[in-house]
Amino acid sequence: MPHGTTSRRTVLIGGTALLAISPTLARAQGARPAIHVLKDPNCGCCSAWIAILENDGFSVSTERSAGTLLMRYKIENGIPQEMVSCHTGEIAGYMIEGHVPPADIRRLLAERPDAVGLAVPGMPYGSPGMGPEDEREAYDVFLIRRDGSTEVFSSYEAA
Ligand code: CU
Ligand code: CU
Repeated sequence: MPHGTTSRRTVLIGGTALLAISPTLARAQGARPAIHVLKDPNCGCCSAWIAILENDGFSVSTERSAGTLLMRYKIENGIPQEMVSCHTGEIAGYMIEGHVPPADIRRLLAERPDAVGLAVPGMPYGSPGMGPEDEREAYDVFLIRRDGSTEVFSSYEAA
C-alpha cells in the first residue's frame, strides 16, 4: 500500500516540523494537490478527466460509487440537483462536480472562497475528458455557494 505509507509519512513530517518547513510544505501541496474522486466504474469519461488532472500535477485517489448512492453523496455534500454531472471530487474541503478544468480547481485553491465548490453540470462536449478541446461547445464553470445558489466562476467559449 504505497499510498497509505506516503500519506502517513507526510502527516508525520507535517506534525513534527510544521513551523520550520511550512512554506515548503505549502508549496509542495500547491504543486501536487490531492483530490479524492467518487466515480462509477462503468463510466469512461471520469477516467479521462482523472488522467488530465494527473497530467496537470494533481494526486488523485478514487472510490467506486454509482446510482442513488453517488447521487446521495452529491446532495449531502451540497451539490444542487441542477449542478449534477457524473463524478464528484473533494479537494481541501471543496466539492468538484463533473468535468471541471484543472486551471479552475487551482484558482479555487488559490482564492479559497467561502463556498461548497465548483461544478460543470451535465457533460459539455469538449470539456476536459469529454472529447477534443478544439471541438468544444461553450460551457460555464459554476461556483456553488453555501446557501445552494450558484454563480458563474469562469466561461469557456465554443471552439
Ligand atoms: Cu463525465
Ligand atoms: Cu464519467
